[in-house]
Amino acid sequence: MGMNNIVSDVHKLEAAKSAMQELDISTGAPLRIGLGTGSTAKHFVDLLGARVAEGFECICVPTSEQTAEQAGSLRIPLSDLDHLDQLDITIDGTDEITADLSLIKGGGGALLREKIVAAASKKMIVIADDSKSVETLGAFPLPIEVNKFGLMATKNAIAKVAGALKLSGDLLLRKKADETPFITDEGHLILDACFGRISNPKELSNELLQVPGVVQHGLFLNLCQNAYIAGANGVIKLSR
Ligand code: 5RP
Repeated sequence: MGMNNIVSDVHKLEAAKSAMQELDISTGAPLRIGLGTGSTAKHFVDLLGARVAEGFECICVPTSEQTAEQAGSLRIPLSDLDHLDQLDITIDGTDEITADLSLIKGGGGALLREKIVAAASKKMIVIADDSKSVETLGAFPLPIEVNKFGLMATKNAIAKVAGALKLSGDLLLRKKADETPFITDEGHLILDACFGRISNPKELSNELLQVPGVVQHGLFLNLCQNAYIAGANGVIKLSR
């Protein structure tokens, strides 16, 4: 890990620690928590595991196989959205976040489950280091989860709807280190859309969801309530 990565990892941990205060909700039942995916969410799951070991009562829905494995190894009680109709809170990382708490997620490829879990939660809380803060979304390529079937047709249709919104850029099929396509937990592909600057995320979101082969995309709009952003000067809490 390089020096910058070590510093940003310390900030990720600080953000995760601050978000622990969000768990002080009394519902009269074990707290129903959505667990995010990625290196920042991993810190939160570790901290939660320590609380569970001390007797904290919760029941959690992980947003990826990776997080399920980590949470399971920490003996965090797990369930799914077939058994819990609503969650009290979800804590997750992000790839980009604006001042109005709009997000780009999916750098880790878990955006579909992450969005389903966030939408099923009363509150979504984001934790991040301050390298994720942006004025306008889009410098981070927008992950778009697509069906394997008809990949070329879907790619062309995405380019067309983006073009109509004056957005353009490569649509890169995400690959693993061995150059084979990255497959999501739900068995789909990811196209990373290098649009550069997305000044109209709402319109783009709506249009992308009209493309038949698009399963979901990484624009999370109006989902996040609070964010804990950690940097050299401490942790800032943003609320919507
Ligand atoms: C996974 C995600 C992650 O939250 C996002 O990629 C941030 O990851 P990290 O905390 O490792 O920087 O959306 O799909």
